Amino acid sequence: MKNGMKLFAGTGNRPLAEAIAGYLGMQLGEVSISRFSDGECYVKFCESVRGVDAFVIQPTCPPVDTNLVELLIMIDALKRASAASITAVIPYYGYARQEKKDAPREPITAKLIADILTVAGANRIVTMDLHAGAIQGFFNIPVDHLTAIPLISSYIKEKGLQNIVIVSTDEGRVKTVRQVSSRLGAPIAVGYKYHPEHQKTQMTHLAGDVEGKIPIIVEDIITTGGSINECVDALLEHGCKPEIYVAATHGVLTEPAFDRLSRQEIKEVIITDTIPAPPPGKLERLNVLSVAPLFGEAIRRVHEDLSITSLFY
Ligand code: R5P
Repeated sequence: MKNGMKLFAGTGNRPLAEAIAGYLGMQLGEVSISRFSDGECYVKFCESVRGVDAFVIQPTCPPVDTNLVELLIMIDALKRASAASITAVIPYYGYARQEKKDAPREPITAKLIADILTVAGANRIVTMDLHAGAIQGFFNIPVDHLTAIPLISSYIKEKGLQNIVIVSTDEGRVKTVRQVSSRLGAPIAVGYKYHPEHQKTQMTHLAGDVEGKIPIIVEDIITTGGSINECVDALLEHGCKPEIYVAATHGVLTEPAFDRLSRQEIKEVIITDTIPAPPPGKLERLNVLSVAPLFGEAIRRVHEDLSITSLFY
């Protein structure tokens, strides 16, 4: 017999957690999270979780390791306090970009994180737009993989832009970009990029007709903005309109991204609130869409054993 559900937030994205709780008409549960003098994390749940479906909302965005360890410790505390089930709601799953070995003697961090979340005691993961869908298979527990693609597509559709082309910065993202293009009835173009060195991106080719069109670049993650910058250069060289839209689910946005995304040909940058947005004024023409209703609805359906797939079709 379950004792209902409770939502708890780590410190990674409290505003999103509050918005999710608001969608569900609930309050966040009380948990105290603090640091010992040596920096170690201390967690104490301030209310009983015995027999409840516990949901911990915590993206593993920067500070990545801090947020990750906090999440693991919260899961451990819930397990030892006899929660009936523990769902890690990870709106942004960090360390996902190392999901295979691209060179000898590299780690596969996406798998390592899956293992430690499971060992900590998570019974289920709810996440969004993983860098690679195959990461779901790194877990031996259920993974509900949500997507912001319908939300982003509807937002773009409402703009009523004419003569658009949906652009992928690399071939790995074509499937996702195709979902946007079919929702918007627009053609696609695909960039070919490689990494000449660690954290450097170079685009060598662009396939597809972009001449005179308004490009909408669709990404999963924007970190340094290097991929977007290269893509914008290639699009302009191929004669697109100097009116480019950039959309990504996860705005990690480290420092170089702000200059790169501020170039005048970029009319708007659209991200979601899986990660806390930068302070107002840091990036003009930034629009943040909320995924709180999607996560709220997914959480409700997990708790009530209802279909989640039907949320998207
Ligand atoms: C890589 O394959 C991803 O899909 C993104 O293109 C990449 O992570 C973005 O990173 P950055 O903004 O640093 O180029």
